[in-house]
Amino acid sequence: MTETIKSDPATTSNTSVFEPKIVAFVCKWCTYAGADLAGTSRQVYPSNVRALMLPCTGRIDVTFVLRAFLQGADGVIVSGCHPGDCHYTAGNFRARRRWILFRDLLDTLGVDLRRVEMAWISAAEGTKWVKTITTFTDQIRELGPYEPMHKVAEDRSPDTILPVDLALSYYSGGENPISAVDPKLQEAVGEAMAAGKVKVVVGWVRNTTLSRPRPVWVASAEAAKFLTQPGDSGNLARMIKNPQLRPVGPIGIVARTTEMMALNVLIQEAQLDPANVVIFAVMPDGKFLGTMDMAQVAALIGEQVKNVPADQPAGFSPETHKLLDELMAKTPAERWQFWAEQSAKCIRCYACRGSCPMCNCEQCFAEKNQPQWFPTAADGPGNFAWQAFRAFHLAGRCVGCGACQDACPAGIPLNVLGAAMARSSLKHFGHRAGVDPKAVPLQSDFRPDDKESFIL
Ligand code: FES
Repeated sequence: MTETIKSDPATTSNTSVFEPKIVAFVCKWCTYAGADLAGTSRQVYPSNVRALMLPCTGRIDVTFVLRAFLQGADGVIVSGCHPGDCHYTAGNFRARRRWILFRDLLDTLGVDLRRVEMAWISAAEGTKWVKTITTFTDQIRELGPYEPMHKVAEDRSPDTILPVDLALSYYSGGENPISAVDPKLQEAVGEAMAAGKVKVVVGWVRNTTLSRPRPVWVASAEAAKFLTQPGDSGNLARMIKNPQLRPVGPIGIVARTTEMMALNVLIQEAQLDPANVVIFAVMPDGKFLGTMDMAQVAALIGEQVKNVPADQPAGFSPETHKLLDELMAKTPAERWQFWAEQSAKCIRCYACRGSCPMCNCEQCFAEKNQPQWFPTAADGPGNFAWQAFRAFHLAGRCVGCGACQDACPAGIPLNVLGAAMARSSLKHFGHRAGVDPKAVPLQSDFRPDDKESFIL
């Protein structure tokens, strides 16, 4: 799709009747052939639908759906082969899992879920295609044009001036507490280095110019006095990706719980060799627990998770959970309004991405321009697509450290979106990010009995 969807003159001759624009992403093996069958059988269905062929529903990406909406669609439907019939064995199972998470993300953002549908329609089901499209078109016609989304799409010159109070609190470092240096930690780092267990150690130190702690890595235990409680500062697991640091290993990390969880996710995703890391574990109260390998870390996290309520993901702060609860108690329209205001503040500095230990692609989708997957400017459509896309990519991976939110100069509560996706992962798949380093990454996996009650 490279152009804004134009009205079809054939369907808009009577200007008093709203004719919705509907985009259908269909698998070429089943639904596309089913739609073709309907046509060759001379069956009649609304001409509102623009069908775009995919090789398989496994190819569907949330960016396609967001882009369709931002280019004027009033409703989007994805359809492919029935479970068990996918020509690539499991593409539709993977699509179904993504769709479950995506629906929850859209709900958190306040998108009207009646405007997105998924269906299983085979090559022999021309009649089902006709019925599905007719019903969906009637439903969207009833709902009317998707004005809130169109408004975002048209908002090409928003007021993106950084709120001064938030900007100042960022640069002055807020009120992050800085604990005293623990001599036991310093001793453990020295011992590990002397024994050759680690070549470099990463941790937080006091910052003499700003009141925020800063991350450093050192090759000598005397070179830094590591802090055990650097407040809300970012996630040191991010440092593992540093191309200068990576070849040096083994690496020691002065790690808090969410940093250990983030390392577990990186191990799950084959981004980190657990044999190459030594942990100097620090508890939430700032107490240094000891030197550990990643197997001991997994056992420690497993124990800590036992204290987390069964319906809550691990890692997120009580404030984040409270904010999410308050948000989900509002109406979808109020949620939409909330995120529209938050998203308008984004200046696309990508500090959220830069601070996130899970954002580890060599080149981010957001900066690709051949093809350009979604608008890149810091405006209505660009910001909406970026925030939604980023939150979705963290589904099943975000450990709730809040590094993104802490780094955001505009004060956008990004961790709330992370928490929404973490709740969805737990609710539908029993998956808690960063707990089991041996678990299959959530979005790379599927179960034949994943929920599909919402699929037509
Ligand atoms: Fe049709 Fe995979 S080939 S959904």
